[in-house]
Amino acid sequence: MTPRFYFAACQVGAEKAVKAEVLAERPELRFAFSRPGFVTFKEDPASIAPLALNAPLFTRLWGEVVDQTRDPAALPGLLSRIPPDAPVHAFDRDRFMPGDEHEGYAFDEKIRSIPEISAFLAQRAARTPESGDTVYDLLWIDDFHVFLGRHAQTDRLLPLPGNFPGLTLPPTAPSRAWLKLEEAILRFKPVVQPGWQALEIGCAPGGATTALLDRGFRVTGIDPQFMAEPVAGNPLFTHIRKPARYVTREDLNGVNPDWIVMDMSIPPKDALGELSHVLGLLRELHGKKLAVRRGFLTLKLNDWKYASEISFYIKRLGQLGFENLKPSQLANNRQEFFVFSGKFRA
Ligand SMILES: C[S@@+](CC[C@H](N)C(=O)[O-])C[C@H]1O[C@@H](n2cnc3c(N)ncnc32)[C@H](O)[C@@H]1O
Repeated sequence: MTPRFYFAACQVGAEKAVKAEVLAERPELRFAFSRPGFVTFKEDPASIAPLALNAPLFTRLWGEVVDQTRDPAALPGLLSRIPPDAPVHAFDRDRFMPGDEHEGYAFDEKIRSIPEISAFLAQRAARTPESGDTVYDLLWIDDFHVFLGRHAQTDRLLPLPGNFPGLTLPPTAPSRAWLKLEEAILRFKPVVQPGWQALEIGCAPGGATTALLDRGFRVTGIDPQFMAEPVAGNPLFTHIRKPARYVTREDLNGVNPDWIVMDMSIPPKDALGELSHVLGLLRELHGKKLAVRRGFLTLKLNDWKYASEISFYIKRLGQLGFENLKPSQLANNRQEFFVFSGKFRA
């Protein structure tokens, strides 16, 4: 058997964490070529069927390498390896930390600027992949270096190139956190009912609050910083302007949230401690009648050393009552990761 290679597409900066999570699950693989946002692994000898990863956190897209070239003249040969009716996704490896992209940036600007590839894509009917499909990935790595990969489409992945959510920040959103909450809603598809309440811990200046208010939530936000004016003036928004650890029972009077949203710019251990304090107050106030049903929890990796402690943070979230936990680094996360909780134990 000849060796097989795999690729992992990820955030710029997350490569070490990807390497660690892949080798922890698949110790038989060897780390191979890598660039920012793109890591490859070698399997030698290759197993009969390509290896999958079980719910990785930092690997946004995992697939098998089919071919690669550093020679534009070899592109027709590489493109001829794509079956005629297979869905094709074209995208660039991540080059920027989310939020640091240049004006007008597109996730596929480099790959589509290659004439042979744009001509190839133009003559193929765009097909949205379904779960179970094999998707062919045309990936720009450098000028000039193109990879052809393929991945199995699953329900865990968006049916969009590179598993990117393709969201654009609206001018009305006061911060990029709008993108994180909207991406989480797109990926995890929670039921949303107008009139529900959300408690947001770390809410300033109000990007996620804007997304919640636009969906009909009543929002109570905890943050010592000021909110953007349109959010602060919204009658459905209440601001508790202090650090979460100083919040009292009186502050939370009348607050029985359906969703807990957390995004504090402090280390994970501190954020979990302050979250625990707020949940303790809500439990005292509502006991078994506590309404919480979903969690949208961002934990900052202020230092990449915290990545090796993630399993402890997840365990702690479980002890706090959050269940059905799905941790992942969202495409719109910076040096941080996100945990969706689909159930809460009151
Ligand atoms: C990334 S920003 C939050 C962005 C916000 N979710 C949005 O949608 O615009 C992090 C916030 O955490 C807040 N923060 C830091 N420590 C906090 C604490 N102990 N309690 C509450 N908020 C805190 C900061 O003031 C800052 O506004």
